[in-house]
Amino acid sequence: MNLDFSQIVPYIPFILEGIWVTLKFVIISIILGFILGTILALFKISRIKALNWFGDAYTSIFRGTPLILQLMLIYFAIPQLTGYDISPFLSSILAFGLNSSAYVSEIIRAGIQAVDKGQTEAAQALGVPYRLMMKDLILPQALKNILPALMNEFITLTKESALVSTIGYLDLMRRAQVVGADTYRNFEPLIFVGLIYWILVMVLTLAGKWVERRMKFSD
Ligand code: ARG
Repeated sequence: MNLDFSQIVPYIPFILEGIWVTLKFVIISIILGFILGTILALFKISRIKALNWFGDAYTSIFRGTPLILQLMLIYFAIPQLTGYDISPFLSSILAFGLNSSAYVSEIIRAGIQAVDKGQTEAAQALGVPYRLMMKDLILPQALKNILPALMNEFITLTKESALVSTIGYLDLMRRAQVVGADTYRNFEPLIFVGLIYWILVMVLTLAGKWVERRMKFSD
């Protein structure tokens, strides 16, 4: 056995900086994915056929192709088409946000459809407009039920974020590789960032449980 964590000690600040670099784009992607996902879910349950079709086609494409391919298309192919270079940061947000919205839209759609039909009927009988019914009655109830599924999605996104190391974004994963190349030791930096990813996911899990408990409390 040949393990020597002391060799990576000088690199710890460099690796730790990667936490924020990773979180920065993951948080923005989650928000983007959630907003787009909600819109897509509304498209899918709309009575307008063209919107249904668009929502389904969108999900089919973004869920049906590998995320790494979408990331590379955005990072390498868009500059070829448009002549504009796109930064690894922006490419990552776009790829992860667009990809996540396909999954989130299905989660939210299922959540909306699981809300008792009587809720919609009651709102309509009282003459509540569609927009207000969705915003104040249906979506809040749906959100409570789908919280665990959404948490799952956010955790997936946090871990899949390591893919951006392939386009040169200096995230946690990439930093572990850089340290490995610098010190000729790969095990130690990889284990170290593995621990960091695990802690990030644990924090997310606990935050999710906390929100869930708060929502139950309000019942
Ligand atoms: N590795 C999978 C892929 O390449 C993960 C996709 C992202 N998953 C998600 N729930 N957003 O397609």
